[in-house]
Amino acid sequence: MTAAVIDGKAFAANLRGEVGKLAAAFEQQAGRKAGLAVVLVGEDPASQVYVRSKGKSTLEAGMASFEHKLPADTAEADLLAVVERLNADPAVDGILVQLPLPGHIDEQKVIATINPDKDVDGFHVTNAGRLAVGQPGFVPCTPLGCLMLLKDRLGDLSGLDAVVIGRSNIVGKPMAQLLIAESCTVTVAHSRTRNLPDVVKRADIVVAAVGRPEMVKGEWIKPGATVIDVGINRVAGAEGKTRLVGDVDYAGAAAVAGAITPVPGGVGPMTIAVLLRNALVAAYRNAGIPLADGTI
Ligand code: GUN
Repeated sequence: MTAAVIDGKAFAANLRGEVGKLAAAFEQQAGRKAGLAVVLVGEDPASQVYVRSKGKSTLEAGMASFEHKLPADTAEADLLAVVERLNADPAVDGILVQLPLPGHIDEQKVIATINPDKDVDGFHVTNAGRLAVGQPGFVPCTPLGCLMLLKDRLGDLSGLDAVVIGRSNIVGKPMAQLLIAESCTVTVAHSRTRNLPDVVKRADIVVAAVGRPEMVKGEWIKPGATVIDVGINRVAGAEGKTRLVGDVDYAGAAAVAGAITPVPGGVGPMTIAVLLRNALVAAYRNAGIPLADGTI
């Protein structure tokens, strides 16, 4: 079997189009644009690229973008004060503090300071709790994007065996919660899991989020399974160049899977599209304007 390629880039472009339409409708109804604030501390090059890309995408969607760039030596108290100001600003619907933060700042303290109803990353414990018990809140963008791709491909996920490899707060744990809510039978595997190949072999759905290049081998995949690769790893390529690979051996897995996300062009483009969607949902909720369920 040769797997169908799940085109996350096309799906994300479509989602951004939907968000754009709803952003225009929001502006009509609320008399202001939906607003997303992004806070960057320090000069980490990868974070700078992400933040620039988020700001550009926010404007393209017809939303207001507020960027706060703070020096690397910003005191924790000063960062918390910026977050408090954004919490109180009625023009700001969503707040994202780019991670990682410099070592002298307690990330959990910063996340805990964000108003959960503006926490479009879904990192606040209130939102983690809401997800766990099935209340409306905000779900981290990457796992929510993975779920959208899975549902688009498979429809009803009920009863399917799913294996999530990785147990991070940002991807693995919320991914498992989302799949439980879809009535999958979920296994969360991690670095201490015994017999990982056998565990993966059972799965109709494999979500790999470990950050180890091409760790999941084609022989581990059940024929016809759907494989979602969250990994983005830069490795040495030919002629001294580098290339991006996922956490899954793509060629090996594509030979047996039913469908697979490529790297790049799979899960990656979904993250910003879902962030914009979350920010728009925050705007509707914070303005008290109903948003038809399932619209986006
Ligand atoms: N750093 C890398 N990815 C993310 C993300 O999704 N949200 C935040 N806040 N920081 C990140």
